[in-house]
Amino acid sequence: MIPLFPNDQTNSLTTLGNAAAVTHQHQFDVLIIGSGAAGLGLALRLPARLRVAVIAKRDIQEGNTLYAQGGVSAVLDSSDSIDSHVADTLKAGAGLCHDDAVRFAVTHGREQIEWLQAQGVPFTTEKTGNGNGNGNFHLTREGGHSHRRVVHAADSTGRAIETSLVDAVKARTNISWFERHIAVDLVTGRKIGASSNRCLGAYILDREHGKVSVFSAKFTVLATGGASKVYLYTSNPDVSTGDGIAMAWRAGCRVANMEFIQFHPTCLYHPKAKNFLVTEAVRGEGGLLKLPDGSRFMPRFDARGELASRDIVARAIDHEMKRLGLQYVLLDISHKPAEFIREHFPTIHARCLEYGVDITREPIPVVPAAHYTCGGVITDLQARTDIAGLYAIGETAHTGLHGANRMASNSLLECLVFGAAAAVDIEANCNNVAYPDKLPEWDESQVTDSDEEVVVSHNWDELRRFMWDYVGIVRTDKRLERAKHRVDLLAREINDYYWNFRVTNDLLELRNLVLVADLIIRSAMVRKESRGLHYTLNHPQADETHSPQDTILTPQNYQNS
Ligand code: FAD
Ligand code: SIN
Repeated sequence: MIPLFPNDQTNSLTTLGNAAAVTHQHQFDVLIIGSGAAGLGLALRLPARLRVAVIAKRDIQEGNTLYAQGGVSAVLDSSDSIDSHVADTLKAGAGLCHDDAVRFAVTHGREQIEWLQAQGVPFTTEKTGNGNGNGNFHLTREGGHSHRRVVHAADSTGRAIETSLVDAVKARTNISWFERHIAVDLVTGRKIGASSNRCLGAYILDREHGKVSVFSAKFTVLATGGASKVYLYTSNPDVSTGDGIAMAWRAGCRVANMEFIQFHPTCLYHPKAKNFLVTEAVRGEGGLLKLPDGSRFMPRFDARGELASRDIVARAIDHEMKRLGLQYVLLDISHKPAEFIREHFPTIHARCLEYGVDITREPIPVVPAAHYTCGGVITDLQARTDIAGLYAIGETAHTGLHGANRMASNSLLECLVFGAAAAVDIEANCNNVAYPDKLPEWDESQVTDSDEEVVVSHNWDELRRFMWDYVGIVRTDKRLERAKHRVDLLAREINDYYWNFRVTNDLLELRNLVLVADLIIRSAMVRKESRGLHYTLNHPQADETHSPQDTILTPQNYQNS
């Protein structure tokens, strides 16, 4: 698809975002693919002298960040400590957290909250007796945390963060943003005499005009979020198709721990609610999980009851639903005063009312759904990947913070801490890196428009359904083999399609989803034990005979399989 030499064509196209007239070739100091907490956090930390591009495949604010409810974890209470936050994170991670990454993230927690506050994020504060804020953050509690340490903006923390960061980015003249643009693939190359590849930028499809441009940059950052759309039921919005992980893999980066997909225990069950989460903070503030007869079941599974870590709660719900043939279980907070519920959970209260459930008076029907991708592109503490000039931050990355199970509210923390670390590294190295030479233009001369869009929609549905059925909360060797067989067939079909037809957003997402599904299945097949979020009936215990190991996949080892 890529010709040897670029031509000099410089067509002008109109785009969404603030880039008024653009050509097929763009050059920036830093190209950031993704506009969630990770991408925007990084963009805002870069010095104003650098020219920065932010790419978003839908509207700039759309992504997981916008929907985050619970909050951001940070040690702020005098009775809490860094050691305690570290210990809780390590415990949730079931032996696979990297100590250095955990301590690094946790130590920088307070700083991130203060930075967010300086960007205008309106966090909820404690109330004094007369109802006025006293300036201290209200700290809520979530599963796995032994202290109250989750800073939040009522129950829509993500919206408060994302909209504040978008406003701040729009006020910066050195940052150009491109909405409705989807990155297709990274461009890498090696200078004559150089010993290794460097990332030089990416091909980006303008969805509105159907044109692919090449964006070259000294540094490229993947901040594309997670991959939970690979599952039929998910708390995530449509953008979470694992694009960054797939692009990095195709470019030659290793990925780690892709088998650890976190299923959030409590998503609203309603035929018309596509993917609405009911925050864990509802359980943190006293909400109880119940069966239809009104009895609690969590104490039978874990001494911490409803505040056991997410893997345990999700599996317990799955177990009870299968045992009793239920379509959902109930989450009940109606024993708390109505005023308390409306004040702490205004978004959930309003949304449930839309579906006819008054949470101040009745329980909420809930089910587990795919929520978070713990694994991802391997990075170091500066967010650097295996390829020079390429960084990965946020849910796309595997920093070692989460291990086999992410603790609630540690994800936004990770986005911000590692985004800031990447900014420091980029600034330190910027003067030593030259702009890439002009890159080859995208070549469409061998492809035509698709004649059968149904192939994409059919395969999209099939993939997400078998991933839910065979690679979900409870796995078996046989189910994984079935899934592998099917994903291989889909991969061949989609690959064929990709090379013959003009690229579209849906095709690109499906291509990435199929690849990420394959990485999840391969990783799950390698792990012959149950640990953290990976639970298999064939190996129901953790392997205590060996020290816990990350599952690391290397692209070069899989080229012909
Ligand atoms: P995202 O915010 O998902 O942003 C991804 C960006 O990448 C988007 O701009 C998207 O358009 C862009 N993108 C993707 N692919 C491409 C492409 N190919 N080309 C161009 N652009 C692309 N975590 C917490 O810590 N606390 C919480 O309370 C919390 N609550 C949550 C509630 C919900 C409902 C969900 C879904 C998640 C929650 N999480 C929470 C997890 C957390 O929100 C995410 O992990 C985090 O927001 C990820 O941020 P990000 O910047 O990595 O990606
Ligand atoms: C929630 O609010 O329950 C989600 C928190 C998280 O995913 O960290």
